[in-house]
Parts: sequence; C-alpha cells; structure tokens
Amino acid sequence: MSTTITWLGHSCFQIEAAGTRILLDPFLDDSPVAPRKSKDVSADVILITHGHFDHIADAVKIAIRTGAVCVSNFEICAWLSKQGVKHTDPINTGGTILLPVGKVKSTIAFHSSTLPDGTPGGHPGGFLLMLPDARIYIAGDTALFSDMKLYAVDLDLAIIPIGDRYTMGPDDSLEAIRLLNPKRVVPCHYNTWPPIAQDAAAWAASVREQGKCEPMVLSIGSLTRI
Ligand code: NI
Ligand code: MN
Repeated sequence: MSTTITWLGHSCFQIEAAGTRILLDPFLDDSPVAPRKSKDVSADVILITHGHFDHIADAVKIAIRTGAVCVSNFEICAWLSKQGVKHTDPINTGGTILLPVGKVKSTIAFHSSTLPDGTPGGHPGGFLLMLPDARIYIAGDTALFSDMKLYAVDLDLAIIPIGDRYTMGPDDSLEAIRLLNPKRVVPCHYNTWPPIAQDAAAWAASVREQGKCEPMVLSIGSLTRI
C-alpha cells in the first residue's frame, strides 16, 4: 500500500490511501493558484478545518457532485447540510472517528471560523489522520501553540501553514516542527496572495538546519508518494 499527496494550492490537498480519495480544504475555482477546477476533482472524503472561504469555498459543490462525506465540526456540518450536502460526519475538538481508510481526530487550532455567509463556524481545527501506512498531522490555520507536542506521536508527515499574517509564519513554524517532530513537513497557506508571500526555499533551508525533519516543498499539482 502507499499514500500519495497532491498540493492543489493554498491549503487544499488531495491525499489518497488504500483507494480512498481524501480532499482537504477545497478552494479551487476562485483560487489564484489552483491547478484545476472543482468540477475536475474527485473525492470520497472531504476534510474541512474551518469555515473561512479559502478552506470551504468549493466543498458544497464537490460534495453534492461526488457524494463524498464531509468531515468538519458540528456547526460547519450543520451548515453544509443546509446547503444540500447529504453526507456529513461531524467531529469536534478532541474527537476521533473511523473513516473507511482509517481514523481521523479533530485537533486544536487557534484561529477563527466564520462561514462565508456570516454564520458562526464553531471552533477552527486541524486533523490527525491515521492512515494504514502514514500518520499525518494537518495543523489547519493556526498560531503556534505548545500543545502541538501532544500530537507528536510517530508523525510521518506534518502539513503546516507558513504564510504568516493569518496563521503562524516561518519562524514559528520552526518551533512547531520541533514540537511535532515529524519525519517530513509540508508547508502550505503561503504565496496564494501577496500578503502571505514567503520564500519556501529559505524556509526549507532553515528546517534542514535545525535537525532531522525533512522539508517537502511541493509543486502545485504534482503527485508525491509519502
Ligand atoms: Ni482561516
Ligand atoms: Mn486560511
């Protein structure tokens, strides 16, 4: 078995494991950097970290078209149902559920979560994905927080924001990597727009300098085996 990851720009990723297609934070049609449109994306499971448009924009149309189950907090799942999404699987901070491909746990994030129409989106979150051959921590939009160390159990991969301004930036991400101690780290939530522009190569050099974690700066649209 193998797990693959494809970055679709910003915080949107496709992760495929054991034949299950997981889509994270779908933001494609209005994203300035997405390599494809929402109509061209398939999914069995859609994970949504919080209610901001740059994480949920295309969730409803993709879920309705594909029949994918949406996993997010209670408030966001209720909102998705009202928009016509048939399958949701709500999960609040600290909770774990079983997906067809493994377990997923909702983790802490320090951020905000208002939905695109102004509806309160509950607490923002991240996910710990326990796939058959990979343990992946998805930080979501968040500041650095010391309890990240609670998630530092045999992580094969951590996906963390480095854009600064709305989330932690490159400097705090280095401390996050120390706390999480993952084998590899993928940066996201940067270079989508000028206010979150970052030098990913310089960031990767700093990650390498500080220790054993391997930075993986993904090219948008290309599939990587993990
Ligand atoms: Ni956000
Ligand atoms: Mn965001």
